[in-house]
Amino acid sequence: MPAEWWARTDLHRDDAGRLIFAGIDVERLARSHDGPLFVYGAGRVQANLSRLRGALQASGCAHRIYYAMKCNRFPPLLKMLAEDGAIGLDICSPDELDLALACGFRAGDISFTGTSVADRDLDRLLAHPDLHINCDSLGQIRRIGERRPGRAIGIRVNPGLGTGYGDSERLTYAGARTTKFGIYREQWAEALDLAARHDLRITAIHFHVGCGYLSGQLDAWDEAVAAAATFLADLPHVTTVNVGGGLGLPHRPGDAPLDLARWSSIIARHFSGRGLTVAVEPGDYLVKDAGLLLLSVVGVERKRDTLFVAVDGGFNLHPEPAYYDLPCEPVACVLREDDPAHWHPVSVAGNINEALDLWAEDHPMPPLAEGDHIALINAGGYGSAMSSNHCMRGAFTELLV
Ligand SMILES: Cc1ncc(COP(=O)(O)O)c(C=O)c1O
Repeated sequence: MPAEWWARTDLHRDDAGRLIFAGIDVERLARSHDGPLFVYGAGRVQANLSRLRGALQASGCAHRIYYAMKCNRFPPLLKMLAEDGAIGLDICSPDELDLALACGFRAGDISFTGTSVADRDLDRLLAHPDLHINCDSLGQIRRIGERRPGRAIGIRVNPGLGTGYGDSERLTYAGARTTKFGIYREQWAEALDLAARHDLRITAIHFHVGCGYLSGQLDAWDEAVAAAATFLADLPHVTTVNVGGGLGLPHRPGDAPLDLARWSSIIARHFSGRGLTVAVEPGDYLVKDAGLLLLSVVGVERKRDTLFVAVDGGFNLHPEPAYYDLPCEPVACVLREDDPAHWHPVSVAGNINEALDLWAEDHPMPPLAEGDHIALINAGGYGSAMSSNHCMRGAFTELLV
């Protein structure tokens, strides 16, 4: 059997070369559903969660995890996390708030950090006195102050430093390029003044400086954390430091898992012994590698120098690879040929009339035929949640197993 870099205990091939996920034969599962199927493994989410909890424990800081529901809002998944009892939710819109409440979270377990927030959004959020709100603009501070003087708020700061998967600029939310996120140091005096003018108590600072960072980006993350920590000096009422999400996972062969021990030691160095609770709001880290998108092969055809494998689902079902160059590697659900020397480089093409609708190019795969199935790995985060109905091909099924 070829060594496939993504293989792990709950995602592997059996002796017959069949892909097994969460103890389930993936090809058989795909055949039992018509059309694109997202399948999420509850066990993998729990494993990711307990690894992260262990790292936070090791930091010695009081801590709380707020799952970023923008990453995957499938209600059975949210309900499973609500049942855990100790996990909070990071939300970014009033509709996310309604869904979170409907899935069993209490307002006091929810932290809002949103951008370009309208008055009608604020009115819905402020109806929940226990909801924590991080402001990411001066206008948000002022408008909350006008509506609810004396309220507790958090402030999302932009430390002007950040990082992301592969040092990607697109995945860096705070850095040399000015972004829309958070309050910059240059605006800080005005932010404090606005809060004071409306008696707003600043109980938290928040920063989220990029997405998908791995061990190679931890030096840059460390510097961003140090820069963000300097804002604390002006905040006598602060109880919580929210270090955002962005913890990455392997997407390509050669990517190593994030060194969580080092990540946790950075947190400890900056925040332990200061009486603060460290909040973390991961999305991808908890759910992305816990999901597969299963598609069926509808054609295999050579065009000029390229062998195309056509599948029944396009980039609209999981736009992240196209938007952010974070690939979802296609994997054959059944190996017809287990010697990689006999695999062929293929382009895996979706069913959307857009030239960019390719899941992979020049990607070695075993022989495939019409009616076979492929699994796109790392499909558990920012897939279904970001999907669209482009070309009216937005239909899919989701399953938590
Ligand atoms: C404010 C905030 N927190 C958390 C997240 C979750 O990020 P990730 O899924 O990379 O952990 C995001 C994602 O964009 C975000 O904007």
